[in-house]
Parts: sequence; structure tokens; C-alpha cells
Amino acid sequence: MSQRTLVLLKPDAVRRGLTGEIISRIERKAGWQITALELRTLDQETLEQHYGEHKGKPFYEPLVAFMASGPVVALIVEGERVIEGVRALAGPTDPIAAAPGSIRGDFGVIVRENLVHASDSEESAEREVKIFFPGRV
Ligand code: CMP
Repeated sequence: MSQRTLVLLKPDAVRRGLTGEIISRIERKAGWQITALELRTLDQETLEQHYGEHKGKPFYEPLVAFMASGPVVALIVEGERVIEGVRALAGPTDPIAAAPGSIRGDFGVIVRENLVHASDSEESAEREVKIFFPGRV
């Protein structure tokens, strides 16, 4: 089943020079395609829209501050089972629990600074693509 997903390479990935490494792991998956890619610094409004479901949680404010602390790389990736697939490449939210071989397992330590975001369902993917790439149908 061909799908699309919204991926963010978070400010820690950009600061640490890991964007090429992460993008190349995505590109190496057979048949997946990057169909949009942009480096940008996120404003408060975009972050409130994107993380609205977490508003009120203890980690929300520091998460938004972190996500605004430097540029991110936003991508749309399309292909077979790409929603589940990018999340498998990323590994679980907590990088210490993530297996070596996954992006978070190889490069992460801190839960907040876990390098990548990837949409968790088709509904989230459509909502998030509209937030980051409003021109896309
Ligand atoms: P992500 O799954 O992309 O979206 C929600 C983000 O909130 C998550 O990545 C982490 O960056 C952050 N997050 C989730 N849970 C916690 C937590 N317990 N402490 C700090 N940050 C968190």
C-alpha cells in the first residue's frame, strides 16, 4: 500500500550534522521517494499546530522550545508502507530503549532530543503534511 508521511529531522540532527546520514537511510529503502524537502526554523504557531495533542503535558513547553531552537529539515516521503517503515527506521521514542541499527538507537540518548519525527498514522500524515507543506494536495 503506497502512502506518504511527514518526517522532521529535529534541531539536534541538524546541529550534529546527521541529516545526510538519516536521509540516506530513508533513500536506501527500495521504492521510497522523497517528494518534498525543506530546511526551516519553526515558529510558535506551526509548533502549536503540530504538537497540539501534547499541550498541557509536562514535556510540552521544553519540547516546543527545543523544536524552535534551530532549523529542522522537513520531508515528505512516499512509498510502500512508509508510515510504519520510517517509524521502524527511527526506533522507539526513548533512544536508550531503541535498538542499535535504528536512527535513535545509533545516535540518541535524550528522550526529547530524539533526532526524528515521523507521522504515526495516515490521519496524522495528512494533517501534518498540510501544516508543513500547505501547497500539497
Ligand atoms: P515525537 O514522538 O516525534 O513527538 C513527541 C515528542 O515529544 C517526542 O518525539 C519527544 O521528542 C518528546 N517527548 C515525548 N515524551 C517525552 C518525555 N517523557 N520527555 C521529554 N520529551 C518527550
